[in-house]
Amino acid sequence: MKRIGVLISGGGTNLQALIDAQGSVLKSGKIVCVCSNSANAYGLERAKKADIPTKVIRKKADCGGDIDEFSRQICAYMKEMRVDIIVLAGFMAIFGGELLKEYADRIINIHPSLIPSFCGEGMYGLKPHMAALEYGVKVTGATVHLVNEVVDGGRILMQKAVYIEDGDTPEVLQKRVMEQAEWIILPQAVEMVCSAD
Ligand code: GAR
Repeated sequence: MKRIGVLISGGGTNLQALIDAQGSVLKSGKIVCVCSNSANAYGLERAKKADIPTKVIRKKADCGGDIDEFSRQICAYMKEMRVDIIVLAGFMAIFGGELLKEYADRIINIHPSLIPSFCGEGMYGLKPHMAALEYGVKVTGATVHLVNEVVDGGRILMQKAVYIEDGDTPEVLQKRVMEQAEWIILPQAVEMVCSAD
């Protein structure tokens, strides 16, 4: 059984999908901790309800805004919790150095578009959906990929397409992409990585 650490920043619906998948779709891994870069993230409540240990590490307040220190502290917590695989489930901060090196090919991210469309630095949360609607594409979706030093640039593990409908707003589209793609492929892709070796 692989030990999974989940990083979040907000509502944590993808974390919830992982929690709910434990024992069914997610058979080869177990969530052992949740770390948030915001003290107000509702996902922390979801973790507590599921009896999963939590920790808050804020880039500014706890690390003086230093990205290397932020990465170092997250890495230290992941090691303390003996985490094998890290999942970024709506994690809106960028980290570097130590964490990427220590967990090379063992960090998984979910992104709310079909990479390489509407991704990269600054494209997070509602923004990929706003960009998709503005561009006028008829199909969007979600991508689960490995994390490397290029933002949203690591190897793609899984993708699922979702149709755009007339009258969609960014919020309506975000909800459909979550329901029809993210909450389905994230647990599947995490299981794929956990069961790989
Ligand atoms: C999700 O749509 C996720 O794909 C996206 O933020 C949302 C978080 O929701 N992630 C990114 O944009 C990362 N670049 P959640 O907190 O309810 O899971």
